[in-house]
Amino acid sequence: MEPDHWHLRWQQGRTGFHTGEPNPWLERFYPELGLNSGDTVLLPLCGKAVDLVWLAQHKHNVLGVELSEIALQHFFEEQQLAAVRSQQPPFTQWESGPITLLEGDFFDLAPQQTVDCRAVFDRAALVALPAEMRQRYVAHLATLLSSGTTILLVTTDYPQQEKTPPPFAVSDTEVQQLYRDAFEVEQLHSEDLSHSQDPLSKRGVTALIENIYRITRQ
Ligand SMILES: C[S@@+](CC[C@H](N)C(=O)[O-])C[C@H]1O[C@@H](n2cnc3c(N)ncnc32)[C@H](O)[C@@H]1O
Repeated sequence: MEPDHWHLRWQQGRTGFHTGEPNPWLERFYPELGLNSGDTVLLPLCGKAVDLVWLAQHKHNVLGVELSEIALQHFFEEQQLAAVRSQQPPFTQWESGPITLLEGDFFDLAPQQTVDCRAVFDRAALVALPAEMRQRYVAHLATLLSSGTTILLVTTDYPQQEKTPPPFAVSDTEVQQLYRDAFEVEQLHSEDLSHSQDPLSKRGVTALIENIYRITRQ
């Protein structure tokens, strides 16, 4: 998905991926990240996720990266937070207390901007990207993260032909292949949502699994 796709979605308000609630897998598996107060957590492709606030409430600094200015405007308005904007080319930085959001392209993020990051939360980031971009995304993460940094990754898997992406179906096999060169991959949980109230199930997808991983940079 190219930037124009996402800019258009935000302009048209087609943001069904935004739940407005903290992600339940983040709430459940956050302890597995072994974080200390003050540690910084990176959220790539963050949208206006409430997870940003949830992590800040758990005493973390939070760094989000998001293409859409509209998403960031909505985030600070909805959370009733005042943000200071500054130019950090090629990004526009929005800062409010422990939350720093960079408006721009994740693929422009540089290692000096993530030196403090001890963990990553990826919900609907990897699965928002087509296959070729998923490889670039993981390769870029490997350049950004230092040894020992952990990723909590949530993926979605379903028969791809049954729905036009995003989200893309990402299998367990693909996760193992994508991360194995530079990361250790551990599956924490697998949930069968085939008969749930999940929006994908309601749209007629016949099989739906969410997988949750802890992935550690070697
Ligand atoms: C499926 S949404 C998920 C948002 C968020 N993670 C959540 O859970 O609600 C994907 C988001 O990534 C943003 N995005 C897509 N490509 C991007 C890129 N290359 N750099 C930064 N943000 C990007 C889109 O604008 C969109 O808000």
